[in-house]
Amino acid sequence: MTTAHKRRRVIAGNWKMYKNLGETRDFFDAFLPLVRDVRDRDVVVIPPFTAISAAVERAAGSAVAIGAQDVYWGKNGALTGEICAGMLADAGCRYVLVGHSERRQFFHETDDTVARKALAVLSEGLTPIVCVGETLENRDAGLEKEVLRRQFSGGPGSLTADEFSRILMAYEPIWAIGTGRTATPEIAAAAHEFIRACAAEQYTAGHALALRVLYGGSVKPDNIQGLMAQDELDGALVGGASLDAKSFASIVNYT
Ligand code: 13P
Repeated sequence: MTTAHKRRRVIAGNWKMYKNLGETRDFFDAFLPLVRDVRDRDVVVIPPFTAISAAVERAAGSAVAIGAQDVYWGKNGALTGEICAGMLADAGCRYVLVGHSERRQFFHETDDTVARKALAVLSEGLTPIVCVGETLENRDAGLEKEVLRRQFSGGPGSLTADEFSRILMAYEPIWAIGTGRTATPEIAAAAHEFIRACAAEQYTAGHALALRVLYGGSVKPDNIQGLMAQDELDGALVGGASLDAKSFASIVNYT
C-alpha cells in the first residue's frame, strides 16, 4: 500500500480474563518502551476490571489508552456485580468493548443490550468499540451478511447519527477467534465493506466513510501486515497475541 490510510488506525489488545496486578505492571514496563515512537495510530490496552487502575497508572504519560471489556447500561444502582460507565470513566478508561462475541455467546448479550451499553458509554464521553461477527455455521450457510445486518441495525444502527459518529466497530468472525484461523485479508475486507454499506444505508455516505472498523480474530505479528494492507481495515482487536508485550508491540509497530 503506497497511500496513507485515510482513517486513523487503532490497535487494541483485549486481554480477556487474563493478568493479575503484578503481571499488568510487568507488561507495561516491557511494552511502553517498545511503542514509544508510535504517533500515527491509536493504541489501546483492555485489561480485566481489576487491573484497570494499575494499567491506567502505568500508562500515564504515554500515548497508550486503557479500555474496559464490558459495562452495565444504567447509572449507579442496586445491581450486585455490575459496573457502570461512570465508574469506568472515573477509573481512567477511554474505551469500552461492547457486545464482544464471548459476551453474546456465553452471557446472553443481545443486540438490544449492545445498543443500551453503547449509549451509556457515549453518555460518559467514552468510546464504545461495538463488536459484531458471524459464527462458522452462519458463514457456511451463507448467512454472514444477514447476521451482520441484524447485529448492525439492532445495535449501533439504533443510535442517532451524532452518536453513531462517535463509536468504533470491530468485525470479529467467531470462527477466527482463538482458533489460529484468521480470516483472509480479503474476507475481512468484504465484511468491513458490508458493515460500511449498512452504515451508509442507515445514516449517510459520510458516516460510512468516517466509521472505523477494526478486525479481530487470530491477529498475530506475522499476519498484521497482510491485514493492514487492506484499506477497509482500520486497525485490529487482538486477543491472545496482546498478552505478551513483545508480540503486541510488534503488531502495534506494523509497517
Ligand atoms: P484472538 O486474537 O485470541 O483470536 O482473540 C480475538 C478477540 O476476541 C479479540 O477481542
